[in-house]
Order: sequence, then C-alpha cells, then structure tokens
Amino acid sequence: MKRLVILSGAGMSAESGINTFRDADGLWEGHDVMEVATLTGFEKNPKLVYEFYNQRRRQLKDVVPNKGHLILAELEKKYKVSIITQNVDDLHERAGSTAVLHLHGELKKARSTADENYVVPWNEDLDHLNYDPKGYPLRPHIVWFGEEVPLLDTAISIISAADIVVIIGTSLQVYPAASLFQFAPNNAAIFYIDPKPAESIPASVKLIKKGASKGLCSLKEALKSL
Ligand code: APR
Repeated sequence: MKRLVILSGAGMSAESGINTFRDADGLWEGHDVMEVATLTGFEKNPKLVYEFYNQRRRQLKDVVPNKGHLILAELEKKYKVSIITQNVDDLHERAGSTAVLHLHGELKKARSTADENYVVPWNEDLDHLNYDPKGYPLRPHIVWFGEEVPLLDTAISIISAADIVVIIGTSLQVYPAASLFQFAPNNAAIFYIDPKPAESIPASVKLIKKGASKGLCSLKEALKSL
C-alpha cells in the first residue's frame, strides 16, 4: 500500500462550521491570537483563556465531520493514510481516521502546568481548580505560540516516508508546521487543496483550488492516474 500523508489545517474543519484563524481580520473567534494562544496570555488572564478553550470544547458537541473528513477515512481502504493535523478538534477521529497526530494539541485533553508529560483526557469545562496529582493546576493541552512542538520529530519521520502528500486547508503561515511538506522524499507527489492557497509554494506542488470536500473528490480522481 502506498503511504499517503495528509497535512491538515483549520480549513479542513471549516465546512463543519469551525472558524479558521486567519480568515477574519486576524481575530480568532473575536480574540487576538496573542491573548488566547500564548503562555503570556494565559499567565495574564487565565480565566479568559480557560473559558476560550471551554467554548471551543463545547462547540465540538455541536459539530460533525464533513464530507472531506469522511473521504480521508475512506482512503484508508486503498492507502496507508497518516494524518498530521494542526487542528485541535477531534473531527478526523470521529470520521473514522485511525492514524491522527495532533501537532498543536487536542481540545479534549488537559495537561499539567508543571509537567508537559502529564496529559489526561478532558471532555468538560476546565479551570484553575482542576489539578494534577501533585497539586499543580491543569491547562488546556494546546501548543501555544512560542512553545515547543513535542510531536515534531514524529511528524517529520512520518512525512519522510511518504509516497504522496496532501496539504489541506492551511495558510502555511505557522512554523514549523508550514515547513513539514518539505521533508517529503523528492519523488513524492505533493497536492495542496485550499480555495485561497498560500502564494509561495514550489511549482512542483499540484494545486487544487477548492474547498476540502470538493477538493478531496478531485484528489481521488487525480490519485487514479498516479
Ligand atoms: N476548505 C479548505 N480550506 C479552506 C476552506 C475550506 N472550506 N475555507 C478556508 N480554507 C483555507 C483558507 O484559505 C486558509 O488558507 O484554510 C486556511 C486556514 O488558514 P489559517 O486560518 O491560517 O489556519 P491554519 O493554517 O490551520 O493555522 C495554523 O495557527 O493559530 C495557529 O495553532 C493555530 O493550528 C493553527 C495554526
């Protein structure tokens, strides 16, 4: 089976009703990203940050995977699919994809503020009164701007073995995620599905200028001739 590696971003979940980050004046659900997605922002106003992610977590109960997520799950019948997502939602898993790596963390997990390796499943609201066993408060299990990306090496090793790479719904502005496709082997075919793709991509990348669902239908056709 050929190895198909998917690099998904916020646009993947747009058709499920989850807003992207950079499509609305640089605001994320009405907030400056630096307020709600940095350690400094959390230390300054923990209440706001807990509540922000609580809202995002609650939203997961109202949304469902879209056709694009379902197509990716179905592709497992023909390919060895690995998904490396920047998304913190669980829509790939709920669509049935079995190998999903969350580069930027997961809404449905919490971690200790003192020990990044203490990570627990979390489905309800989280606040400063939820502690780890040593008494340190828990925080959202989200990789914020300026923080290390703990799964980066794993992601690089997955992409280094890809036969086909498909980038979907990302503005390719946030590093190191944006540079991951460059670790693909030279002979790997690389596709990029996005209605408003980033401009500075190599000419060898095959562009599918469509939304995730329609773009993935086109991809299925394109894969037949590989
Ligand atoms: N289908 C596919 N792509 C879409 C759709 C759609 N229906 N709608 C919008 N898009 C595209 C936009 O054109 C844009 O290129 O999705 C992309 C979303 O880009 P961003 O909002 O910048 O999201 P992303 O690239 O995932 O952001 C990366 O930034 O704030 C951080 O950690 C956060 O993981 C996030 C990271």
